[in-house]
Amino acid sequence: MHYTDTGSGTPLILLHGFPLDSRMWDGARTGLVDHVRLITPDQRGFGRTPLGDDAPSLETVARDVVGLLDELGLERVLLGGCSMGGYVAMALLRAAPERVSGLLLIDTKAVADTDEARANRHAVAERAERDGVAPWLADAMLPVLVTDPARGGAAVRELMEAQDGASVAWASRAMAARLDSRETLRALELDALVVHGELDGLMPVALAEELAELTAGELRVLPGTGHLPPMETPDAFLAAVTPWLAAR
Ligand code: MLT
Repeated sequence: MHYTDTGSGTPLILLHGFPLDSRMWDGARTGLVDHVRLITPDQRGFGRTPLGDDAPSLETVARDVVGLLDELGLERVLLGGCSMGGYVAMALLRAAPERVSGLLLIDTKAVADTDEARANRHAVAERAERDGVAPWLADAMLPVLVTDPARGGAAVRELMEAQDGASVAWASRAMAARLDSRETLRALELDALVVHGELDGLMPVALAEELAELTAGELRVLPGTGHLPPMETPDAFLAAVTPWLAAR
């Protein structure tokens, strides 16, 4: 698993969204590294991490992350994820909750997919295998993910179009198969921060309110921001997360 490891202090693992890679954190990296040791992996198939030949499953991605913690000798970490990265974080909480000392959830949700969303993911997977990803995937997703294309839109497209069709297909199927995480979150005693873009076109704020309720965590809603705050409004994102990080 390829990763970037910068800074010192309390380790924070940040898991990227779909269909992006660890470069999604670049705009916030310097501001985060002032407070924590930041470790940003490329989840399997994305960025510089190979896909491998396991069946699609976010539990497998979560196991990869636990393997990375073992490799780095990290007993417990702050764990964060944006969107799909949040789903992976919740899968990790099911597999190895003792490895997580604090949880940062960014524009993500605990509920599993509806049948309609699942069917859509399978259609995306088939098209990605057939046609690759450019330009149709960014054409379809950007208007939903980014509120103002001038704020991070080009960078989001570039990251999307750098990914492999086979990996996009694998992750789509893995997300379609993911479990509902509400009971996992409710059952654990978590120290959590939930950050959400007010104008997230994919996941309404009500889903973040549910996460905050399930985790008994703090909720920070970022005004005028879409689905990818670290890329769209990195300064507002940092202002929301750094007080929480600095206190851990
Ligand atoms: C993401 O941003 O990681 C994905 O779009 C999330 C999803 O499709 O559920």
